[in-house]
Amino acid sequence: MRIMVTGGAGFIGSHIADAYLAAGHEVLVLDALWEHGGGRRQNVAQRALFVHMDIRDEAITRIFQEFKPEIVSHHAAQASVAISSRDPVYDAQVNVTGLLNVLENSVRYGVKKIIYASSGATFGTPERFPMNERTPQRPESPYGITKMAGEQYLRFYQNERGLDFTSLRYGNVYGPRQDPNGEAGVIAIFIGKFLAKEDVRIDSDGEQTRDYVYVRDVADVNIASLDRGSGGMYCIGTNMRTSVNEIYRQLAEVAGFEAPIVHAPKRPGDARDAQFDYALAKKELGWEPRTQLRDGIRETYEYFKDALPVSR
Ligand SMILES: NC(=O)c1ccc[n+]([C@@H]2O[C@H](COP(=O)([O-])OP(=O)(O)OC[C@H]3O[C@@H](n4cnc5c(N)ncnc54)[C@H](O)[C@@H]3O)[C@@H](O)[C@H]2O)c1
Repeated sequence: MRIMVTGGAGFIGSHIADAYLAAGHEVLVLDALWEHGGGRRQNVAQRALFVHMDIRDEAITRIFQEFKPEIVSHHAAQASVAISSRDPVYDAQVNVTGLLNVLENSVRYGVKKIIYASSGATFGTPERFPMNERTPQRPESPYGITKMAGEQYLRFYQNERGLDFTSLRYGNVYGPRQDPNGEAGVIAIFIGKFLAKEDVRIDSDGEQTRDYVYVRDVADVNIASLDRGSGGMYCIGTNMRTSVNEIYRQLAEVAGFEAPIVHAPKRPGDARDAQFDYALAKKELGWEPRTQLRDGIRETYEYFKDALPVSR
């Protein structure tokens, strides 16, 4: 199939593009290489077509016209909670108006299906764990709000314009190519600090938890969604809660030493816990996470050991 991956030069999108190529599909990556995102030209495989373009650009029409994608995997986004809080207007321009530009062109040029990168951030702070598809969505950041609005637009475009979709609400994705200098992505950030032999900052008491899902497992669910999960919205996680302290402990084991820790106050707006029940994705998409956290951390550490400049 011909598949357009928006945001395909970024952390998650590039793994998805690689997985589609490996499965024999034709891939076009469309990415603006936004300065505050994780997009890098070198993340894009040689075999993929690459278009350096903003999803808000009207010229995107030409790309749809020429490439004629059958599937659009929509991973381009303003993906930072912090930036969305500082600049909600920009967040909405990319995550809502940009999405609408993609959806309009998808309808116009006969795309069969959109696979949409949604987020656990659409839930906010739930009353009960684990979260599943029946958990009420009460997003607490502009980013969570625009990701949730995106899902509502998908429903509209399916009902009114016949454009099929699958929405994947990811937990905390980690793995090779994640930006170690970003403000989120604790595993990549900690690995960067370990390798540079710098202090590791742990906010609050470090007992706050997240559901860490390995990026290749996320790529797998994007393969499964090519022909399953019509009109579905799925929680994509491991159904496990792991604390920041536990991440530090596992990383120290893999690295063979303990980096110095500095403690910092709780960051405003940071949720205490997250855990995603993936039972519906298992049932309807035939997907479940395969990578144990320890193995994923080890693979990510090995990747960064080769990829990052060694200091000191
Ligand atoms: N990383 C996570 O844990 C996580 C969790 C839930 C959802 N998501 C979603 O998954 C997707 C990928 O996230 P990621 O972590 O790989 O981030 P990333 O920053 O590495 O990837 C996003 C990509 O989108 C591109 N982009 C940004 N603005 C654009 C624009 N206006 N036009 C075209 N391209 C643009 C960036 O250059 C980047 O390559 C995003 O939609 C994000 O919201 C990520």
